[in-house]
Amino acid sequence: MDAAERHVPVMLERVVALLAPALARPGAVVVDATLGLGGHSEAFLRQFPEVRLIGLDRDPAALRLAGDRLAPYAERITLVHAVYDELPRVLEDLDVPAIDGILFDLGVSSMQLDEADRGFAYAQDAPLDMRMDPTGPTTAADILNTYSAADLARILFQYGEEKFARRIADRIVRERETEPFTNSARLSELVRNAIPQAARRTGGHPAKRTFQALRIEVNGELDVLRRALPAALGSLALHGRIVVMSYHSLEDRITKQAFAPGTKSDVPDDLPVIPAGHEPYLKLLTRGAERPTEEEVAVNPRAASARVRAAERIREKGLVA
Ligand SMILES: C[S@@+](CC[C@H](N)C(=O)[O-])C[C@H]1O[C@@H](n2cnc3c(N)ncnc32)[C@H](O)[C@@H]1O
Repeated sequence: MDAAERHVPVMLERVVALLAPALARPGAVVVDATLGLGGHSEAFLRQFPEVRLIGLDRDPAALRLAGDRLAPYAERITLVHAVYDELPRVLEDLDVPAIDGILFDLGVSSMQLDEADRGFAYAQDAPLDMRMDPTGPTTAADILNTYSAADLARILFQYGEEKFARRIADRIVRERETEPFTNSARLSELVRNAIPQAARRTGGHPAKRTFQALRIEVNGELDVLRRALPAALGSLALHGRIVVMSYHSLEDRITKQAFAPGTKSDVPDDLPVIPAGHEPYLKLLTRGAERPTEEEVAVNPRAASARVRAAERIREKGLVA
């Protein structure tokens, strides 16, 4: 299957509509910070014949597949192997002082989930890898086999919002004494056995939260996002727009918190007028987080947990960001 066949971009029409006013400007530059299989990027390039696109991904396999898919637009694209918090350096290297639009479609791609040997999917037995960039230093197995019970419990609780984090962590530490962890089926089974019988019947697959937590830790996902969003806001031209699509509440909270300071003036509330240069520099384009329609989720179950927030830069770069 090629990239276009195996992937349905999430909330495509809404994402395009949110970025459209910025992408329609002459000479517009858009960054796809999470290129993946290039689904959203392809729509930008097709619908805005003058737009130039910079596509980032930390996964070299995604860059190859997206490169094939976007080949018809080769003259208008630059694809870069980078973690998205490296955006300022990438833009500097390309001599791009400001951008008109940026999309973050967070998390793993359908390709990464489908390729069993990368170890992202808890439903298939595979090596416990979970690195988005296969040259990264730490795999999920390394974490399971070396972290202390306290550290394992912390990541399961914080990144997986797992109520039974301590029980699972203790069991991991006990079982790795017999034999180190290598494969996902053993971990799924361990999680199932570690949680009380009653809890197994609710909340989906019992190992889902543990796998999410490990993936976030392996790839340092939340720290990278916390650094990347202010950098992206700082790179936006006047009337440039940012769209962030999250798949769990931790990502969505970080996004909300990254946008919040820009929507308020940075002077004390009791000041009668806001001095020039201190007005808010961001306008929110979504009310809270927008969700996909039921129709979309019916066709594309991977859209089910998506939440979109978007904002526009309404003041020139200055003292802020
Ligand atoms: C959900 S997919 C994007 C799908 C894409 N919008 C499409 O339509 O095909 C997320 C992609 O972002 C990449 N990614 C995740 N975190 C990243 C990071 N911190 N830096 C760069 N790429 C990242 C993943 O490797 C994956 O390919």
